[in-house]
Amino acid sequence: MLVNDLLFIARQGAGAAPLNLRPIDLSDLVERVVGDAKVIAYDKSIGITLAKGSASHEMIQGDPARLRQLFMVLLDNAVRYSKSKGAVEVKVGESNGDVTVQVRDQGVGIAPEELEGVFERFRRGGKAIEMNAEGLGLGLPLAKAIIEAHKGRIEMESRIGKGTTVTIVLPAKGGGEQA
Ligand SMILES: Nc1ncnc2c1ncn2[C@@H]1O[C@H](COP(=O)(O)OP(=O)(O)O)[C@@H](O)[C@H]1O
Ligand SMILES: [Mg+2]
Repeated sequence: MLVNDLLFIARQGAGAAPLNLRPIDLSDLVERVVGDAKVIAYDKSIGITLAKGSASHEMIQGDPARLRQLFMVLLDNAVRYSKSKGAVEVKVGESNGDVTVQVRDQGVGIAPEELEGVFERFRRGGKAIEMNAEGLGLGLPLAKAIIEAHKGRIEMESRIGKGTTVTIVLPAKGGGEQA
């Protein structure tokens, strides 16, 4: 997490986060990030799989570096809050012309009363503290700022002890305004 990322969160709060927009094939980008994340997952014997078939190859307008960072945050969390030998599944799909990306894990989960709060800066869940997981509580606030700068949204569903699913919805036409 860099000062630049904190600034990005603050600027998005003021509706002025800078993006370098380009046409992107989101399926290709996600595939590449999954490849990178496998390296961090390997240590914990956690497999990350990319569901095939449903992927939309529609081009969106997006900031490739920021979108990569967004998916890295989600995959880092999925691995970090999984027990050893869990499985993480990533699925790219389409819904009403929007592109969706889902990251599903079988990890420790988040208590219902904590679910809303995890998008606040420096907020960390009870399970995360309990398991002594490293972190500053800035991953999800950054992920939310990035997706909202792209005029999309992020949704999280979780059950304690069962796992967590994060869904990203991006408008097919893509994004925010050019920096
Ligand atoms: N996939 C997940 N499974 C379980 N808990 C999660 C997951 N992702 C995020 N969380 C919870 O949300 C909190 C905030 O996440 P984040 O902003 O990435 O901060 P950090 O990971 O540094 O604690 C975490 O402390 C954890 O309690
Ligand atoms: Mg995190």
